[in-house]
Amino acid sequence: MSLFNRHATLERHSLLLTVGILVVVAIGGLVEIAPLFYLENTIEKVQGMRPYTPLELKGRNIYIREGCYVCHSQMVRPLRDEVERYGHYSLAAESMYDHPFQWGSKRTGPDLARVGGKFSDSWQLDHLMDPRSVVPDSIMPPYAFLAKKTLKFEGIEDDLKTQRLIGVPYTDDMIANAKSDLIAQASPNADYDAEDALVARYEAASGRKGTLRISDYDQNPAEITEMDALIAYLQMTGTLVDFSTYEAGDLNNRR
Ligand code: HEC
Repeated sequence: MSLFNRHATLERHSLLLTVGILVVVAIGGLVEIAPLFYLENTIEKVQGMRPYTPLELKGRNIYIREGCYVCHSQMVRPLRDEVERYGHYSLAAESMYDHPFQWGSKRTGPDLARVGGKFSDSWQLDHLMDPRSVVPDSIMPPYAFLAKKTLKFEGIEDDLKTQRLIGVPYTDDMIANAKSDLIAQASPNADYDAEDALVARYEAASGRKGTLRISDYDQNPAEITEMDALIAYLQMTGTLVDFSTYEAGDLNNRR
């Protein structure tokens, strides 16, 4: 029997053909997937990445709760128009501590992966209170209620512990001091020792200085609100890696 005749047998039996297809596809799948299990890490670590501070993590939770991802992506694709508009394309390492990641799939508004530092805190505040006060044609809804809602953070240690469970390197020290770190980041000039301790803890984790901002984000020193947390988070996005010195593939960037 020639090879062609054998193939005819295969083509005439649907079950045999199905099994044959599965075997062939499985080989392709294994070749692609199996090596990933043997690599120590598939994400190249980059200097500057650190776990989010307790205030930033709270802000991130509010970002997810309010569904900001429905209108905003957080992923600059490596295409020329995107890089010119938003800055350096997003690195895999930049979302390594995101559980869940916020890449998004729709841009009704602009990408927010690098919005940190693009505007002042008070612009962010005005914009969230009433987007049309600063961008007259905006269709973004207002989030003024966030400035009236006191931030609840009794369980912040558990938030950090849960993140650690799924791989974010929060230290025991960070967990034990989560409450004082959260208060310190939103209360400038209130307790200098607490501020220094916060900065030292998170800068040590990032291997880079100057990535942590302390500010009264909602301009209301009387209390820490959900607005404080959300703006703290927005002002941090995309600022952790120093792209003035970053070069793809440069071993010095790795840790
Ligand atoms: C219905 C869609 C929609 C939702 C939901 C939404 N936005 Fe927007 N957002 C927009 C649009 C459209 C713009 C562009 C116009 C403007 O600047 O207001 C924008 C702009 C922005 C900007 C300015 C970005 C830049 O680079 O100019 C920020 C920051 C922002 N949004 C944050 C948020 C946050 C935080 C949330 C959730 C609390 C949110 N948005 C929810 C539609 C939305």
